Amino acid sequence: MSSIPRDQWYVAAYTAEIGRELFSRTICGDPILFWRTEAGEITAHADRCVHRRFPLSRAPSRLVGDTVVCGYHGFTYGADGRCVAVPGQTRVPRTARLAQYPVVEQDSLVWVWIGDPALADPGRIPRASYLDSPGWTTVRGMEPLAARYSLLVDNLLDLSHETYLHGGYIGTPEVAATPISTEVDDDAGIVYVSRHMADAECPPFYERSTGLSGRISRWQDIEYTPPCLYKLHSRIAPVGSVPDPDGSDPDAFHVEVVYAITPETEHSTHDFWLVARDFALDDEDVSAFLAEQNRTVVLQDVAALDVLEQVIATEPPGYQELSVNIDTGGLAARRMLARMAGAVPAERAVPAR
Ligand code: FES
Ligand SMILES: [Fe+2]
Repeated sequence: MSSIPRDQWYVAAYTAEIGRELFSRTICGDPILFWRTEAGEITAHADRCVHRRFPLSRAPSRLVGDTVVCGYHGFTYGADGRCVAVPGQTRVPRTARLAQYPVVEQDSLVWVWIGDPALADPGRIPRASYLDSPGWTTVRGMEPLAARYSLLVDNLLDLSHETYLHGGYIGTPEVAATPISTEVDDDAGIVYVSRHMADAECPPFYERSTGLSGRISRWQDIEYTPPCLYKLHSRIAPVGSVPDPDGSDPDAFHVEVVYAITPETEHSTHDFWLVARDFALDDEDVSAFLAEQNRTVVLQDVAALDVLEQVIATEPPGYQELSVNIDTGGLAARRMLARMAGAVPAERAVPAR
């Protein structure tokens, strides 16, 4: 049985990736064809001609106005996926139609619904409006991961690994040393994990971007909405600074680190990452630095998770992991994901102390 939850929204692309060219990406095992109509609307259909399966994203298939012409024998499809022309006959079979995926553009992301289209509710897509708002500057990328998506969920829900895997970039001793608090909102479907470091070393990632140095107050507040959207609200401030009672926070620097965790297949994942900041908005050196640093950090995770996927693939059945306090967020996320995938969770969330 698949561990990938269906009847869910997943990030398929950045909005800027999709234009007047045929674009294909495999999401949860489904190859999906995307393109924009002349009016600018995004379409999402199965990337497989109904005739003999030729991928419609593959040359010499082409976009002609608001139709896609299959590059093999010329079946032609409109923006609604219906076939409008077949070669050698005037009658178009009624069933000649591409499966259509509900698709929504929001917060610079293209969301696609994987599952029964009748259940798709765009109101359930989690928001991250700062990714596309004045007052914020965002850098981003996407790295292919040759590992199952659940390994990336584990990785992002437990940031104690920053100290070890990302030392010299975002990791300092205080991250691993500071206990977390975890909260689960089952009704909203959100896992929260917080780690507030009152007096911590400033890692290079924040030293060069904010100009702060020495000791800082560093807060990490994770908000994960399974299956796809992970948000890390990061607050960097001088030691002793706290937000004002009205919620304003003039002494702090805010960085929103967002990941979209999108399964490509059972054993590979699209690792979308974005870093939004509310300071140095027009400073291109800061943008270039954060983009390069975060990509390096993501690639450190990718290298580790690619190894883990291989370890899991070759281990005998029945291997038991050991979980401790740092894993409470990850275990809560696993339980939610297992419920979404219709499976009974293999493990209860009682960490060994
Ligand atoms: S496979 Fe597309 S027209 Fe034949
Ligand atoms: Fe990491």
